[in-house]
Amino acid sequence: MAEFQPLVFSGVQPTGNLHLGNYLGAIRKFVALQAEHDCIYCVVDLHAITAQLVHDDMRSQTRSIAAAFIASGIDPKEHIVFNQSAVPQHAELAWIFNCVARIGWMERMTQFKDKAGGKNAEQVSLGLLAYPSLMAADILVYRATHVPVGDDQKQHLELARDIAQKFNIDFMEHIRREGSGVDIMVGDEPVHAYFPMVEPLIGGPAPRVMSLRDGTKKMSKSDASDLSRINLLDDADTVSKKVRKAKTDPDALPSETDGLKGRPEAENLVGIYAALSDKTKEDVLREFGGQQFSVFKPALVELAVHVLSPISEEMRRLLDDTTHLDAILRDGGERARARAEKTMDQVRDIVGFLR
Ligand code: TRP
Repeated sequence: MAEFQPLVFSGVQPTGNLHLGNYLGAIRKFVALQAEHDCIYCVVDLHAITAQLVHDDMRSQTRSIAAAFIASGIDPKEHIVFNQSAVPQHAELAWIFNCVARIGWMERMTQFKDKAGGKNAEQVSLGLLAYPSLMAADILVYRATHVPVGDDQKQHLELARDIAQKFNIDFMEHIRREGSGVDIMVGDEPVHAYFPMVEPLIGGPAPRVMSLRDGTKKMSKSDASDLSRINLLDDADTVSKKVRKAKTDPDALPSETDGLKGRPEAENLVGIYAALSDKTKEDVLREFGGQQFSVFKPALVELAVHVLSPISEEMRRLLDDTTHLDAILRDGGERARARAEKTMDQVRDIVGFLR
């Protein structure tokens, strides 16, 4: 039984500032995966226009995500970093997937329902409905096998599997005839597949970083209060101010993780400390159990600045020289395009377009 070559793909939208939640929840994982896998990391600008068509600053937002990737340790020479619109094959495959996927699949997506529910239907674009189909195309145009994402993307990845599976089944004879398929097992069924069943890679050092103002809400770029998040470009003074002002409760830290139950803000700050120092929450509480926040917060500031300031400095350096940064993205785009074209060349034959 053959197998698909392992390949990691993930995407981040160029909207809003990247914050600590994005860094700990996603980018750090992207960085770690490079050691063992071939990786493609994409700034998904085509997705950014699904929610809002006109952006004043899409170019600078795109550069800023790319700079964050590189400053965090993604190697754009060894791996690939590029922006989605530079590879038109994503949109081409998405169109075919629009004809594979069923409207009901799209309408069932919770993210779509949240944004388009009720009378909003006239307000949201057709692109927003088709968003998951483009996301499936992003991944499958490279026949990527592993996708690191936050848990909010799980449903979109299941849909990517549904699309891959329907394509594989509907075109099974064509795939055999063209000779471009791979024999894989799906569950305990042997299948002759053109597209792999993508595996989500969910979790990581801190899958959920919460708001500094409300430990029950996720840290988010759309929160009205900038004090709720630590942005990757915040300077040391700002990081320090935000941590000092972070909401807490009056009690000392517990010595065991059980004692964090019902204390979401304490749990969040301990989780952030643990993730930033590559320790477990247990380790952190062994060190700080019994201490007041007046002791823990300065330690957290010191750690956060230690980890984040080299990244923000490197980001600023990269963003100061857009010629260099754009050249990196252009090179990534060229290499991505060559790989995507290989797939599309076969897909056009499988679907049966006249060549
Ligand atoms: N939907 C993802 C998000 O909002 C972004 C994304 C687009 C993506 N295409 C992708 C993630 C492909 C992983 C793989 O986070």
